[in-house]
Amino acid sequence: MSAVVVTGANRGLGLELVRRYAASGARVIAACRSLPDHPSKVADGNIRWLPLDLADADAIAAFPAALGALPVEVVIHNAAIRGATGGLGDLNTDDFTRVMRVNALGPLLLTRALLPNLMAGHQRTVAMISSRAGSMAEGLDPDGDYAYRQSKAALNMGARKLAFDHPDLKVLLLHPGWIRTDMGGPDAEIDAAKAARGLIERISEADHSASGSFQTWDGHPIAW
Ligand SMILES: NC(=O)c1ccc[n+]([C@@H]2O[C@H](COP(=O)([O-])OP(=O)(O)OC[C@H]3O[C@@H](n4cnc5c(N)ncnc54)[C@H](OP(=O)(O)O)[C@@H]3O)[C@@H](O)[C@H]2O)c1
Repeated sequence: MSAVVVTGANRGLGLELVRRYAASGARVIAACRSLPDHPSKVADGNIRWLPLDLADADAIAAFPAALGALPVEVVIHNAAIRGATGGLGDLNTDDFTRVMRVNALGPLLLTRALLPNLMAGHQRTVAMISSRAGSMAEGLDPDGDYAYRQSKAALNMGARKLAFDHPDLKVLLLHPGWIRTDMGGPDAEIDAAKAARGLIERISEADHSASGSFQTWDGHPIAW
């Protein structure tokens, strides 16, 4: 028996990833700060809900204790926050630091904590949900979200470094598309189900040559 770990599992893209993996028969560790808003989304024998705040380094370090020796095939670092969106004038230290902790540092700390479980699995896949917004080449648009963009650029470098340092892992950077979630808003291009379906395809088809790559949910490479 082995499992897939998904962070930010209670809503948006994370919840859709959890439901799809569970429906396919996978055992899912759904990590989140609070349970989904409706009990019908919670009840599935393949899903184990565990509390995790990605801003809390102690909680991240303690998280694997709940898993014991359970092999983890895939960890999907999905949880993220947008932070202040009002441009340069809106930048403030607390907001910026929190965005960097949750979006850039949290995934690396959790990967480190889960290394023994990942090494006990066969797939050894670390999927970072990044964003095209973190690309120097493709990420510029008029939005005023400095912290978010910088956090995703930092996540990208952290993942590249992780892929370099750990050739035994498959480290994927995935842009999920512009999705109709709380973060993406109602005018976004695709729903979370479509994004999750594509991301799961990318994760399951990836071989070791894909480690350290940055691509979209539907398989197009993104320039750094
Ligand atoms: N939506 C888009 O268009 C879009 C585009 C590009 C990339 N992305 C990326 O896709 C991923 C999912 O985004 P989404 O659209 O589903 O966002 P969302 O609807 O805002 O959901 C964010 C998730 O992250 C969780 N989260 C936030 N802070 C956390 C923390 N400190 N600890 C644990 N969990 C935390 C939230 O949990 P709570 O309920 O506890 O807040 C929620 O489950 C993110 O990495 C995002 O950057 C999204």
